[in-house]
Amino acid sequence: MLEPNYLKHTIICFFSQRGFLLDSCREKDMLGSMADIKIKINTDREVMVKQGDSLYATLADAGVFVPSACGGRGGCGLCRLTIPNGVESQPFTKPEKHWLTDEDRTSGVRLSCQVKVLNDLHVNIPEQLLKVKACQTQVVSLRNLTYDIKEVRLKLLKPDNMEFKPGQYIQVRIPPYELSRLPIFRTYSLANDPAESGEIELEVRYVPNGISTTYIHQYLKEGDFLSINGPHGNAFPSDGPGNIILIAGGSGMSPVKSILLDMVARREKRTVRYYFGAKALRDLFFVDLMREIEKKLADFRFVPALSEPMPEDNWSGERGLITDVVARHLPDAKDTMAYLCGSPLMIDACLKVLKSKGMTDKHIYYDKFA
Ligand SMILES: Cc1cc2nc3c(=O)[nH]c(=O)nc-3n(C[C@H](O)[C@H](O)[C@H](O)COP(=O)(O)OP(=O)(O)OC[C@H]3O[C@@H](n4cnc5c(N)ncnc54)[C@H](O)[C@@H]3O)c2cc1C
Ligand code: FES
Repeated sequence: MLEPNYLKHTIICFFSQRGFLLDSCREKDMLGSMADIKIKINTDREVMVKQGDSLYATLADAGVFVPSACGGRGGCGLCRLTIPNGVESQPFTKPEKHWLTDEDRTSGVRLSCQVKVLNDLHVNIPEQLLKVKACQTQVVSLRNLTYDIKEVRLKLLKPDNMEFKPGQYIQVRIPPYELSRLPIFRTYSLANDPAESGEIELEVRYVPNGISTTYIHQYLKEGDFLSINGPHGNAFPSDGPGNIILIAGGSGMSPVKSILLDMVARREKRTVRYYFGAKALRDLFFVDLMREIEKKLADFRFVPALSEPMPEDNWSGERGLITDVVARHLPDAKDTMAYLCGSPLMIDACLKVLKSKGMTDKHIYYDKFA
């Protein structure tokens, strides 16, 4: 059983996250009428929640943050949990049929964003996941890196630190505003040196009409508070075969920057090549930082490539799609590990190139920003 105080806190969090203004009488009324479903977590915990929302959203409201790369839209398959009982009557949805194997389905695995909390249920949640923490942050600075990519630096307030590894990401909670009636969560890679304490950095590319990116680009101000949770996802390993290839486009720069700053801190000795694809000069950023890192690492080269340079760019560097540039530069990738980050299209095309050069799946890591 949970401590009574924890339960009260959970329920209060639930209402305050939904934007209710509570006075103590209303709070008591609501507790009686709405928080009437029991979720049993593993063998030893219970939480009372409101009926009707997805299990993914309900758990987030209760302070349990299930990994997601799609914000609960059935698009990533990461929110899988074993649910021994309580959702048997709910048919598998299309995303579940896509992401879950027959074996998953017979053993009670469901996508938590696809099942609804309609009655008491029992869910198994890995202990590691129960350690993912929500954190209150405050925006310390906002800076335009390009016309559509913004750097967001957040000071961690409560708790005032978050341990993470390069390649990991957080979920940002976007509060309700003009484009969304309810709070939503979106995933952003951590861009700073993991050794940096007390602040985190994100690079966010504007997606026209996107709920989160419109909020971050057009509404968020320095001094605002933002809730996040994390860290999520796997880190890019700090050891492995001989050479390292990093490939990114757009805001895919973000995790690569964190990986490189970590390499500088660890005095990485291996050969590292970083191919960054952009359309034109106005899409390039952090070039000076990359040149600095070239001086600090034993064998690192930054190779930016423009696919559609403008005449006024006077570009004398690499031209073409990043896949073609990688194919030209890379004679053989057998003794190599790679990290790729950017649009799904770019990553799929790069995977083909890397495999044609002899790389195996187990040495290729990637994050598709979808
Ligand atoms: C592991 C992971 C890490 C990520 N890290 C970053 C990061 O560091 N920086 C960053 O900027 N983004 C990152 N993303 C993408 C981010 O999570 C959001 O998907 C993105 O910011 C769009 O959110 P939105 O709410 O503004 O758009 P939504 O409201 O979700 O979408 C609006 C419309 O735009 C489309 N759309 C959504 N995303 C994109 C996109 N990236 N490009 C083109 N169209 C899109 C949708 O299909 C929809 O039609 C990451 C994604 C993943 C999975
Ligand atoms: S959160 Fe992405 S599929 Fe459920």
